[in-house]
Amino acid sequence: MQVSRRHFLLTGTAASAAIGFGLPSVFADTKGMPDWHLGYSTAPAGGFDPAPMRLVYGNVPEGLTGTLYRNGPAQFLYGKDDYASHWFDGDGMVQRIDIQGGKAVHSGKFVETVKRRIEQAEGRFMAAGFGTHGDPDFPIERPDDLNAANTSVIVIDGKLYALWEGGSAIELEPETLKTIGVKDWRPDLEAMPFLAHPKTEPDGTVWNLAVGGRNVGVYKIGADGSFKSFDMLNIGKAAYIHDWAMTDRHLVIMVQPWVNENLRPPIVEGFEWRPEEGFRFLIVDKDDFSNQRWAQGPARAFFHTGAAWEESDGTIRLDAALYKEPILGVGGGVDEIRGKWGGRNDGFTSNFTQIVIPPSGDARLIETGLEGDFPQVDPRRHGLSRRMTALVSGPSKVHPGHTAISVLDWETGQTDTFDFGDTRMVEEFLFVPKPGKAGEAESWLVGPVLNLKTGTTDICVFDAAHVSDGPVCIWRGTRSWPLGFHGTWA
Ligand SMILES: [Fe+2]
Repeated sequence: MQVSRRHFLLTGTAASAAIGFGLPSVFADTKGMPDWHLGYSTAPAGGFDPAPMRLVYGNVPEGLTGTLYRNGPAQFLYGKDDYASHWFDGDGMVQRIDIQGGKAVHSGKFVETVKRRIEQAEGRFMAAGFGTHGDPDFPIERPDDLNAANTSVIVIDGKLYALWEGGSAIELEPETLKTIGVKDWRPDLEAMPFLAHPKTEPDGTVWNLAVGGRNVGVYKIGADGSFKSFDMLNIGKAAYIHDWAMTDRHLVIMVQPWVNENLRPPIVEGFEWRPEEGFRFLIVDKDDFSNQRWAQGPARAFFHTGAAWEESDGTIRLDAALYKEPILGVGGGVDEIRGKWGGRNDGFTSNFTQIVIPPSGDARLIETGLEGDFPQVDPRRHGLSRRMTALVSGPSKVHPGHTAISVLDWETGQTDTFDFGDTRMVEEFLFVPKPGKAGEAESWLVGPVLNLKTGTTDICVFDAAHVSDGPVCIWRGTRSWPLGFHGTWA
């Protein structure tokens, strides 16, 4: 790490005032702490109109052109004290950062779901959800009426979709972010869930899961957006599946021993941690779903994978942020939106790990000891052999979330890290291949960083091959927006 540059980044903006959209008064007396609450503050109901961001550091690399879309919960509070019951139940807001000709323009808009329309009219939270019991008066005509559309986004053939794990994809206009409506991939699949972690092959073919208890549906969608197939798998128990993995030949359904057999809201309360059952992996041939095998590994909980690849002898390798126990079984995601944080619980820290699944026999774990999550890989190599994974790292001791970005090289075992320090909250960074280049390291990493000193969300660009050198450039707007979960680059 270059100390001087880090010093510049941390101190060079000290004169700026906090110019976010304002903190609720309940947080006004939080003295001596960075205003990390900004990351969990309710965004304006009307969204963020397009506004140029200012280049405040570095030079914009030539050829960096495209649009970063991100999604995350952004409604946490109605009135003075009607808080969402869980971070995961806030209404989704999609942020759009359009980068053209060296300039960046930010806009953001809530996904206009049925849930949001009803709750906005009533001025209170009503829909049942991941951590919410729900009001019996909330009218439900179809399962998607509960859809918070708050977890991720995907672009397929130029069409933009907001994703949630318990409901359908919701299509948005890519330029204006205006909500178009629920996407049904086939008439009989109406309201079938479409997971927030689809996997896109390098040729654009999209695979995704529909998780519903012991049954898992598998979508295959062409690069042109055409529906290809939907098949069902039985995974034996209603494990929590937030993410999964895929090689060029196989699907890897990861069955962690965190099980909820009744699936009644609030979903989080129904989960049971059963470490004695271990971590199981269902490996399915993409061309023949009847060709399946199971592998077993030591009990771990997880939310996110990087990606998988496969060796010529059939050994599958994948990387994931693994936890000894589920971190959201109690507490997590509830306090932060109320402005409370009891400090980091070291019993629930992640260990970024490579899972090695041999052609037969048990899976084994290669643990790096690196604490991080939100792993991302080069999209040109999804499902293929690769060496690099970018992830959010550097857990802060003074606020929730992380302060650093790391690139892990599985071939050398080296980690290249840039730590912004406690005045920043780092979000997921995406690989953006440099135009005309093919090497895995010939990418930029693009992502948002919540700047607690200036009260702004900054868009930072790194060279994937030299992360510890610090950002290549930073754009800053005049506002912050709530921390999001996942994004895509189009
Ligand atoms: Fe996720």
